[in-house]
Amino acid sequence: MKDLITPFLLTVLAYLVIGIISQTANAGTKNLMPSNLPPIYKQECGSCHMSYPPALLPKESWAEMMNGLHKHYGTDASLDKQELNQISSWLNSNAGTYKRVKEAPPDNRITKSSWFEKKHRKVNAREFSKPSVKSASNCNSCHRNAEQGNFDDDEVFIPK
Ligand code: HEC
Ligand code: HEC
Repeated sequence: MKDLITPFLLTVLAYLVIGIISQTANAGTKNLMPSNLPPIYKQECGSCHMSYPPALLPKESWAEMMNGLHKHYGTDASLDKQELNQISSWLNSNAGTYKRVKEAPPDNRITKSSWFEKKHRKVNAREFSKPSVKSASNCNSCHRNAEQGNFDDDEVFIPK
């Protein structure tokens, strides 16, 4: 009997360890959008492109971006004062929680972060510029559940 119990317990233990490891691996990219997402954020900051999770940029980058909305990557994305304050404070309190976010990237672009470049090393530059994607900034053309904050590499599809 003893001979049987030891291998059994070891198997159970192995499954537990594997389970814990794969859970922590997923925790990083499956749920990056906070549940207290204000509707105004989706309305105002999700009208020209998807609404990016605050987790993906550090506080300094969001603050700088929100201070220059009249000159936002070649467009005018100005807001009235009340909306600006509401969105800024929500971004500030939820900024940078993705574990790979460290220094502020050039131009406050998620797509110029060093972690972004590393994670997409295997994605050919041509995939980002083809008509069905247009720009690396269109996360949701490949990460189908990006609007929900899900960037898990098991759920990513490069469109034709
Ligand atoms: C009038 C349209 C418009 C609105 C409104 C708008 N944006 Fe943008 N945004 C753009 C364009 C255009 C780009 C550049 C996209 C590209 O290079 O493909 C951009 C880029 C970005 C990027 C960088 C993406 C990257 O390449 O990493 C972030 C972050 C961003 N916007 C956040 C916001 C936030 C926050 C708001 C709301 C305050 C907002 N945007 C509102 C048009 C807009
Ligand atoms: C052309 C398609 C494409 C676009 C656009 C794209 N990605 Fe990705 N992304 C991928 C692929 C493919 C992988 C998996 C790469 C691998 O496993 O080597 C990936 C991986 C990732 C990962 C790592 C996932 C993990 O589980 O470790 C993150 C985070 C991520 N992308 C975020 C983004 C964000 C944020 C944007 C937009 C600013 C974006 N991606 C735009 C294709 C894309």
